Amino acid sequence: MNQNPHRRRVTRYAYAKINLYLDILSKREDGFHDLLTVMHSLAMHDVVTVEVFACPMTEISLRVYGAHLPTDQKNLAYRAAEAFLQRINKTARVHLNIRKNLPIAAGLAGGSSDAAATLRALNELFRYPLDESAMLALGATLGSDVPYCMVGGTQICRGRGEKMQPLACREPLYAVVAMGGRERVSTPRAFADTDEYYHDFDGSVPHGGNPESLYTALENGSLSAAADSLYNAFEPVILPFCPVASALKEKMLSLGAYAAHMSGSGPSVFGLFHSEQEARAAAAAIGYGAHATMSVL
Ligand code: C5P
Repeated sequence: MNQNPHRRRVTRYAYAKINLYLDILSKREDGFHDLLTVMHSLAMHDVVTVEVFACPMTEISLRVYGAHLPTDQKNLAYRAAEAFLQRINKTARVHLNIRKNLPIAAGLAGGSSDAAATLRALNELFRYPLDESAMLALGATLGSDVPYCMVGGTQICRGRGEKMQPLACREPLYAVVAMGGRERVSTPRAFADTDEYYHDFDGSVPHGGNPESLYTALENGSLSAAADSLYNAFEPVILPFCPVASALKEKMLSLGAYAAHMSGSGPSVFGLFHSEQEARAAAAAIGYGAHATMSVL
């Protein structure tokens, strides 16, 4: 490392996201799908600590606490550190420490969020060699949700998810996030199954929800009155194969959620409640695997 980092260690929170709206618009030639999605950050988070030491070669190490996850290149945070050093053309010894609280492969962007926090921390440790657009472009090379996770808040996301437009969210949302049993969903598989379900997006299947009324409701702080505007196109494809997630969704509605949906390609489910108290009571009633949390505005 030619340039000494101004600090050796930075800790960042890696927040969960939920999709308040998620429509798949088309299947692209490059194998990805064009989306229209509204992503929203929740306070539940992993904790990512990045330490950097001068070293003539790049050496990356990763420790994960609280979950069994790969600690090599199979881990997106590891790949983020590698990609960052390559991009700025420097070598260093980087140690990543991740306290995992977010469920894995759940549609909450836990892995993407860890990678985003790693990139942000490294840019700070190296005194900001990359500007915002270079950082977001680097994030997009790692995964479709990484640019959003680098920015957070409430964003209308298009393309693979990397084209973002911030959306005002007047009131915090009170959510319960739950993931049941051992159900796991692979994202590529979920997209492949939706291709079949929606006839390769040939236009024959109507779009659901109402993004425009969702935007207005968020801006006005009146989401509970526009509960029908929320939507997730993956639900009819994925939920029939995830009985625990389906039951959690129904349970949340029966406990007073004004809306309950799967997040991303699932199988985690979130319910939105009128108050923090109601969310906490619902999480307690659901029990193991349910967390009451709220927006990071
Ligand atoms: O970008 P990411 O690594 O998260 O994507 C994983 C897989 O999900 C892709 O290889 C692709 O099959 C699918 N995908 C997609 N359209 C998107 C995002 C992901 O088809 N917008």
